[in-house]
Amino acid sequence: MDKRGYILRGAMMTDISAIMAIEQLCFADDRFTKQQFAYLISHAKGWFYVIEYQNKIAGYISLLTNVRTHYLRIYSIAIHPEKRGMGLGQALLEQAFKTARENKIKTITLEVNICNRIAIILYKSNGFKAISIKTNYYHDGSDALYMQRHSTE
Ligand SMILES: CC(C)(COP(=O)(O)OP(=O)(O)OC[C@H]1O[C@@H](n2cnc3c(N)ncnc32)[C@H](O)[C@@H]1OP(=O)(O)O)[C@@H](O)C(=O)NCCC(=O)NCCS
Repeated sequence: MDKRGYILRGAMMTDISAIMAIEQLCFADDRFTKQQFAYLISHAKGWFYVIEYQNKIAGYISLLTNVRTHYLRIYSIAIHPEKRGMGLGQALLEQAFKTARENKIKTITLEVNICNRIAIILYKSNGFKAISIKTNYYHDGSDALYMQRHSTE
């Protein structure tokens, strides 16, 4: 266990129901299904981590590698609403940076809804730079901010 009281580990298939419960609470649209989580955990080219706090899964991060660009993409990150503001999201992001360094991946990318003020603050404070806007990116037609960061920053 980390000194801050959490455990960060690779996800297992048995974690899916807890991950889905967090997904329901965190996202109104564009939620992943059980099958998508199963694929992301077991077959996708990347990594899937969960963070446990007080013996319960409090959040997750899904990372994918882009075979063509060799970038690491933060595909999704979410923390249970009752466990926010405690540094858990930051810990998951730092795990993404560590994974990138260990695998010699230089660039980390992500898309975030342009209305998601808190996530954008989190990413900017971690060195991500806004690169472009992807219009009509989400199912409800809203736009995404595309951001990048170098893994050594
Ligand atoms: C974005 C999210 C993952 C942040 O997780 P979290 O565990 O609450 O974040 P942390 O406690 O680690 O905070 C890290 C930093 O993020 C920023 N931040 C987090 N919550 C914030 C808030 N309510 N207001 C302003 N800044 C905030 C701060 O810079 C903070 O650093 P600080 O505590 O030193 O000020 C969480 O809010 C979440 O799950 N949101 C819903 C899902 C989502 O939007 N995912 C992103 C999709 S791209």
